[in-house]
Order: sequence, then structure tokens, then C-alpha cells
Amino acid sequence: MNDQAALLRQKMMQKSLKQTVQAFEQAKTLAVVSGKGGVGKTNISVNLAIGLAKLNKKVLLFDMDIGMGNIYHLINGDASLSIVDFFERNRSIDQLVQTGPGGISYIHGGSAFSELFEWKQEYKEKWMAALETLSTEYDFLLFDMGAGANAASLNILEAADEVLAVTTPEPTAMTDAYSMLKFIYMRDHEKSFYLICNRAESAKEGRETANRLKRTMETFLNVTPVFLGSLPEDACVRKAVKMGSPFTLSFPKTKVSLSFEQIVQAYAGVPEKKTEHGPRFMDKLRRFFTERGDAE
Ligand SMILES: Nc1ncnc2c1ncn2[C@@H]1O[C@H](COP(=O)(O)OP(=O)(O)OP(=O)(O)O)[C@@H](O)[C@H]1O
Ligand SMILES: [Mg+2]
Repeated sequence: MNDQAALLRQKMMQKSLKQTVQAFEQAKTLAVVSGKGGVGKTNISVNLAIGLAKLNKKVLLFDMDIGMGNIYHLINGDASLSIVDFFERNRSIDQLVQTGPGGISYIHGGSAFSELFEWKQEYKEKWMAALETLSTEYDFLLFDMGAGANAASLNILEAADEVLAVTTPEPTAMTDAYSMLKFIYMRDHEKSFYLICNRAESAKEGRETANRLKRTMETFLNVTPVFLGSLPEDACVRKAVKMGSPFTLSFPKTKVSLSFEQIVQAYAGVPEKKTEHGPRFMDKLRRFFTERGDAE
């Protein structure tokens, strides 16, 4: 009897240890967002993924931009396989993972996400299972979101551990970024928020832009985002886009690439936010599809 009790206790301990390890083995999930479109999310997502890969992190970049599916343009990638193939053509999620430059992996989103709200239960379960597998295989799942929040991106916006908002110094970009951040914060008060100011005329303008957004968030939402840095307007970004090669790889010594290096350092240097249950991405995703339902 005693032996049995000891065995049971041992099994329970092993189980709880396994759960703890699993919780901490989940990838960090980061959604890159903006209010206004065209402010540089895709360029920043791709180069951030590359920067983290340089730090020996395993990064999977997910193209959630259902309209354009931008990432493959920027890396001369292959758009013939997309998440649609996973849902409708029985491809495994691993078959969809493609290799990008600088040691990153990426998945092309395609247009399936736009029909998220018509997803069958079977699709939702497949999606959750796929993300669960991916989150144990990678250190980072980085989601390049389309501009604004749409029904399709809601599950990721709500579940992601972290949100990186990109803005430019233009007032409309800033107010739209704030609306987006508020929208996300209202759904999850525990997220970590980061800011990048892109296309700034000077570091000072970038800092001031971020500070204004930061103060607004502190005043009205009572949350403090981390400003990661700003990027200058630089013609090499456009050139790199045309070449289909990310600017930090094709023009590593330019001002914008050097600034980007600092952004990566700043992001990597932020201490891990300790939450009681470790990363909560999968729990939140599950809740999104089950408890609360998917209708908004
Ligand atoms: N720092 C910069 N300097 C010069 N041009 C830039 C810079 N950042 C972005 N651009 C230009 O803006 C274009 C749009 O960038 P990007 O595709 O990354 O934006 P986005 O926010 O992902 O757009 P969308 O909302 O359509 O997804 C780029 O193709 C490039 O021409
Ligand atoms: Mg984009």
C-alpha cells in the first residue's frame, strides 16, 4: 500500500514537472501590428526574425496579412503553398514551413484566415493543434499582422504574449496605432507592449513620437510600453524590397540596418516577463475558440 502511494506520488510529481517544463518550453509569441497600413510591419517582422535568428533563436514567421501576403515578396519566397493547403489539402503544418533567408522559417498565410469565422470546428481544432506543435518547436512565433484588426486576426491578437506596434511620426499613424493598442489591451491586460517608430527624420523625432504614444497609453490605459527604437527613412529599404532581400542582409552597414541592430538588442535585452503560468498563448487561444466562442 505504501509502495503504491509512493508510486502515485512520484507519478504526480513527474506529471506536474512535465507540465511546468511544457509551459516554459512554449515559444514566445509576438504579433506585429499597426493602425494605419504601409508603415513598415512586414519589413520589421522579417528583419526582426533574422535578427533573433542571428542570436541563435529558432524563429518562425507567420504571414497573417491575408490581403497581400507580403512576406514572400520581401524574401523572394514561395507563395504556392499556404495555410489553405493545411486546411483543405491535407498538408501537414511542417510541410508548409519554408526556409527563408538568415536562418528563419516562415509560413505563407494565404486567404484562409479571412474565412476564419466560417471555419468548421474541425478546422479550429486543427489550427490549435498546429500552433501547439509549432510553439514547442520554435523559440519565437512572430506574426506579421495585416493593418487594423479584422475577424481573421482576432484570435492571434488576443492570444499573443506580446504585441509590437509600428508607427511612423505622422499623426494619423500614431492615432491609429493608439486605437489598435487600446483595442488589444482591452482584450488582454497582461500583454507586453513594444513600440517602434519607423521612417523617422531623426532619432529625436522617433523618440518624441514614441514618447507621445507611450504617455497616451500610460494616461488612458495605465500600461507602459517598451520603446525599442526608431528607424530612419532610408532608400535602401525600398531597394531591398525590390530585390526581394531583407535590408539588414543586403545593406548591413546602412544607418537603417545599424539602427535595426540596436532594436534587436533592445528587444532581446528585455527581461522575461514572469507570469504565474509561463507563456499563456495556447491557453488563451483555446479559450478564444471554446469558452467565448468565435463570434464578435
Ligand atoms: N524606413 C524606411 N525607409 C524607406 N522606406 C520604407 C521604410 N520602411 C518602409 N518603407 C517603405 O514602405 C513600404 C511598406 O512597408 P511594409 O510592407 O513593411 O509595410 P506594412 O506595414 O507591412 O504594410 P501593410 O499594412 O500593407 O502590410 C516598403 O515597401 C518600403 O517601400
Ligand atoms: Mg505588411
